[in-house]
Amino acid sequence: MTKKPARKPASAKPARKAAKAPAEAATETARLELDGRRLDLPVLTGTQGERVIHVGNLRRELGVSAYDPALASTAVCRSGITYVDGANGRLLLRGYPIEDLAQHATFVEVAYLLVHGDLPTLEQRSRFSDLLNQHSMLHENMRNFFGNYPEGAHPMAVLSAMVVSLSSFYPEIKLDTDREEIDITVTRLLSKLRTIAAFSYKKSIGEPFIDPSHRYSYCENFLNMMFQSPVSRYAASAEDVAILNKLLILHADHEQNASTTAVRMVGSTGANLYACISAGVCALWGPLHGGANQAVIEMLERIVREKIPVPEVLRRAKDKTDGFRLMGFGHRIYKTYDPRARIAKAICSQLVRKGRITGPLGEIALELEEAALADPWFQERHLYPNVDFYTGLIYRALGFPKEMFTVLFALGRLPGWIAHWQEMRADPSQRIMRPGQYYVGPSRLPYVPIAKRR
Ligand code: ACO
Repeated sequence: MTKKPARKPASAKPARKAAKAPAEAATETARLELDGRRLDLPVLTGTQGERVIHVGNLRRELGVSAYDPALASTAVCRSGITYVDGANGRLLLRGYPIEDLAQHATFVEVAYLLVHGDLPTLEQRSRFSDLLNQHSMLHENMRNFFGNYPEGAHPMAVLSAMVVSLSSFYPEIKLDTDREEIDITVTRLLSKLRTIAAFSYKKSIGEPFIDPSHRYSYCENFLNMMFQSPVSRYAASAEDVAILNKLLILHADHEQNASTTAVRMVGSTGANLYACISAGVCALWGPLHGGANQAVIEMLERIVREKIPVPEVLRRAKDKTDGFRLMGFGHRIYKTYDPRARIAKAICSQLVRKGRITGPLGEIALELEEAALADPWFQERHLYPNVDFYTGLIYRALGFPKEMFTVLFALGRLPGWIAHWQEMRADPSQRIMRPGQYYVGPSRLPYVPIAKRR
């Protein structure tokens, strides 16, 4: 077979802007050869030793793009927020291990850590909590929006619409906005998202809204807004407050997952913070991402309802023609046990011991995990439970309906989204995100007038 003559690079003239030089000096180079031309690509090393090849000038220099469907081998930014070691199951938020944060910190402290870069002092936490309290109420006109959603509207639909609506009520952050105003906007969003989440639940069950109160901490306030009612006494237990804090911390950030990348993508166009967060909420909703916590419970319920034996569930998960996946299993980055799932499983066991998780769903979950981990097909693919496998069972034990599970995930992920949005805006190497493609459609076609088309 004769090889076609190599094409001339599409961009013989350097029409494209050179990618900004990386902040770190390259420690080595990777060589790429094409059409007899050679390109030395800088190899950068992160603080945990992971290496990336900087291909930002590939198109400019050689006239070709890197093809990476689903971005499986692509780093889209440099970031100092979160480190995930997928091979060893380690997760650090701003350098702190997730286990330490879940055990010792509150969600408000972790939110501060993500947004400000380090854990707060007593004084800083107190000021942050004050701001969260001051900005927790919703504008009266926004409260009226809830009345127009139909019965049974999914709370994620309401949440995403309400978050983007905040942009019509509150000023957006500009590049020159001062730190104080940024802090107010950030706390406003953290605080109001919680109120919107609780109101969307109250609306869905036809009960009056319960306003936030200065008497409660962040998580206690949320539980109170969810479960307080004019006709029944409710006081969140210390155990439930502690568990909710832990679960929100587990969700707080996870580097460049689909929703965070959506926030960065929309943010790169210069869109306002509320629009970016709303995009993140929509991306999170999908069952392959944050929507998996609802999907796990629905899967377990179905297994129990239809009395499907565990081996049959695994057989279907392995069958490529079936379309069924074991929800709450597998992860793009973790090829071992997700450290967040380990913490969630421990909370789950605690609730089982206390008799707060009873019945077949918890038992089936444990049986499924055990069977999948012992199955060579799952072992070869390094499929382990992810954070969503056990969190739904816990939320259920706390009294949350399954439609609220992904909303809770969004509430937890919000500080991470905000931190990435801030980092992206401050990073001089970030430009509008505009991935490429390689075109496989028809070549030039002659236009046929409508009367002559068949
Ligand atoms: N059940 C059955 N098979 C699975 C599962 C699963 N849950 N997850 C992955 N696999 C299989 C794939 O079919 C593939 O098999 P193959 O190599 O024979 O083709 C192999 O394992 C690799 O999986 P990919 O789909 O290529 O992995 P990817 O990184 O693209 O997807 C994802 C990751 C979306 C999380 C996937 O594992 C999945 O769908 N899991 C179920 C949904 C879920 O729990 N999502 C929550 C993720 S955590 C989070 O977002 C917070």
